[in-house]
Amino acid sequence: MTFPTDRPATWFVTGTSRGLGLELVEQLLERGDNVVATTRSTDRLLQALDADTTRLLALAVDLRDEAAVAEAVRKATERFGGLDVVVNNAGYGYLAAVEETTDRDVREMLDLQVVGVWNVLRATLPILREQRGGHVVNVSSVLGLTSVPGWGLYCAGKYALEGLTEALAGEVAQFGVKVTIVEPGYFRTDFLTTDSLALPGDTTAAYPEIREMVENHLKLQGNQPGDPVRGAQLMIERVVSGEGPLRQILGSDSHAYATAKVQALQANLDAAAQTASASDFPA
Ligand SMILES: NC(=O)c1ccc[n+]([C@@H]2O[C@H](COP(=O)([O-])OP(=O)(O)OC[C@H]3O[C@@H](n4cnc5c(N)ncnc54)[C@H](OP(=O)(O)O)[C@@H]3O)[C@@H](O)[C@H]2O)c1
Repeated sequence: MTFPTDRPATWFVTGTSRGLGLELVEQLLERGDNVVATTRSTDRLLQALDADTTRLLALAVDLRDEAAVAEAVRKATERFGGLDVVVNNAGYGYLAAVEETTDRDVREMLDLQVVGVWNVLRATLPILREQRGGHVVNVSSVLGLTSVPGWGLYCAGKYALEGLTEALAGEVAQFGVKVTIVEPGYFRTDFLTTDSLALPGDTTAAYPEIREMVENHLKLQGNQPGDPVRGAQLMIERVVSGEGPLRQILGSDSHAYATAKVQALQANLDAAAQTASASDFPA
């Protein structure tokens, strides 16, 4: 099944009261598609939306709760009669040194970024698989490919998301279900504001460069190169066309960081080319 053109498509989007998620919902409603938008606050979403909401089903969902996610998907199919596209977008940044990151901080991040996505996939994949078509879009980050000091927990979540998504793409292609990993660079959303960004309760004096990095990132707010309107538009175009590789790189900064990572990885592989086989059993 290709993207429907003879009827409105139905999209299930998570994390929609701000940023890229909100922009996606607005553009999808403008297209005339059906949108199931999950959020922690339907009030915030409805206040922020500047669109005709006739085709919107706004649902307050705790993505960490498997039963709540399954119920949201049930309501979505009841209201719109099916599901075509699933966008796992909800996410937040967290800036701290690895040793400053508490057990609770780790669990909260992975609960949303990994367990939550898995909850959505478990509830929606049977529908896409049985109808032999659909599209899953997992919003990662260029920090799902490359990691930098102070971003360890966020990167751990996004790397995990990328790992499960690569596997998923290989599993569901046979059912006509497409999969895209979106890798934005810095986008001018609420991501770097203290409304979204999480910081550790306690820090040590051992990492002044991480405190400086945090200050610099808070100052970056409003100057990020990525435009969420264009970003959301490109994400929608990718799904509608059904064309393109697994990874959708959004932003010149994302492209540069990803290229540097690939080059470093290639240099590492080249350095190991003669020695990697030393741990094999002798022929
Ligand atoms: N902006 C960037 O620079 C950037 C770069 C790379 C990747 N990304 C990724 O892009 C996605 C969208 O981020 P954004 O830039 O649009 O940021 P944003 O403006 O802060 O919006 C984030 C959205 O995620 C949801 N969210 C945040 N924390 C959550 C939590 N603890 N539990 C459940 N939902 C939560 C929020 O949904 P509700 O409040 O409606 O529940 C919100 O609408 C995220 O996955 C982010 O990691 C962003």
